[in-house]
Amino acid sequence: MPPTAPAASTSPSADAASAAGHGVATLDVAALREHFPALQGGAAHFDGPGGSQIPSAVAEAVAATMTAPMSTRGSVTQAEQNSDANVLAGRAALADLLGAQPGGVVFGRSMTALTFDLSRTLAKDWGPGDEVVVSRLDHDANIRPWVLAAEAVGATVRWAEFDPTTGELDPQAFADVLSDRTRLAAVTGASNLIGTRPDVAAIAGLAHDRGALLFVDAVHLAAHASVDLEALGADVVACSPYKFFGPHCGALAADPALLETLRPDKLAPSSDAVPERFELGTLPYELMAGTAAAVDFIAGLVPGEGTRRERLVRSFAAVEEHESALRTRIEAALLELPGATVHSRAARRTPTLLVDFAGHDSGEVYRFLATRGVNVPASSFYALEASRALGLGDAGALRVGVASYTDDSDVDRLLDGLEAYFAQA
Ligand SMILES: Cc1ncc(COP(=O)(O)O)c(C=O)c1O
Repeated sequence: MPPTAPAASTSPSADAASAAGHGVATLDVAALREHFPALQGGAAHFDGPGGSQIPSAVAEAVAATMTAPMSTRGSVTQAEQNSDANVLAGRAALADLLGAQPGGVVFGRSMTALTFDLSRTLAKDWGPGDEVVVSRLDHDANIRPWVLAAEAVGATVRWAEFDPTTGELDPQAFADVLSDRTRLAAVTGASNLIGTRPDVAAIAGLAHDRGALLFVDAVHLAAHASVDLEALGADVVACSPYKFFGPHCGALAADPALLETLRPDKLAPSSDAVPERFELGTLPYELMAGTAAAVDFIAGLVPGEGTRRERLVRSFAAVEEHESALRTRIEAALLELPGATVHSRAARRTPTLLVDFAGHDSGEVYRFLATRGVNVPASSFYALEASRALGLGDAGALRVGVASYTDDSDVDRLLDGLEAYFAQA
């Protein structure tokens, strides 16, 4: 465990259960919160799905990289070696987080930028008669790049629809629109709007049966559950470290053998090796160091031995248990409020609750809660298609995002704030 990793405790019963092979260690949320200077600022943060707060260890890793000798990646000078080490450490960390190989991790400016780049690369090989499948549930970053790339080459776009009444995205919705002409299907690992976690492995099986690639947006999922490229059946998985305690950047992971077959646009003198071929310009060494620190931080959330991957999986089990307990509490309370509709309903989902109140503007509720130091934004959060399908138009609704640092006192403040809102509305 790194020296700055959060303390965590394991209840005696959890210990015994863990030893028997089941049961989950308990997060020590109070100790965890100590690592986040921003949480001392006093606000209750339910805005994690937009970007988490950052532990000191991550900021320190960024600062240490920037204040150490640093230059373009290479092997001759110490400065070059430092940058090289940061690149390799960042890739190794994300590989552990995503169940991928370090040589298949591509860093970039953001998931959006990486997805646009990859869509144009793949579309070089598409044409009229080819098809791509996108889902109505997704964030626009996993829709529009594919739609625009398909349109640019005359390929056809087909839509897998989710059920707004249940929040479920049934694999059958993909089966209905996949065909032997499908070149790529894109789906979210978890909806950033309503939390739905579709059965990605089933969708992957359907896509592969048709000879299509599957691109999985794990940006929201990776903050709440361990992600496994292979278990998901994904050909490419995308994430954004700033959603899970890291700096603002994005990454993709794929089998290096798949990346070898692709020819992205690149500068003539830049490396043609994989994954460098996909990483345009100079890499953000300090952000890669911060990303590695974020992954180490998560791996240290729960005490125990093992590889970093094993510790990550154990930590996420504890995170899921903590977050779903808070989600259950919030959900029950929201449903008691006047005119409340909770749109997050899927059987399997993250602790991200989208709610609106009949006769009340969600933006007003958001602004009211903000005056009480409770950060709960209202929007469609770029999941525009999903918001419209839910009948919420472009404005969306109030999104209550639970994070691993959320505690019961945050929830008290949220619920008190909502009560106060309705008392004066
Ligand atoms: C589910 C999901 N996908 C994609 C994105 C876009 O990520 P980035 O900001 O790295 O482009 C977001 C950002 O909110 C998201 O929540």
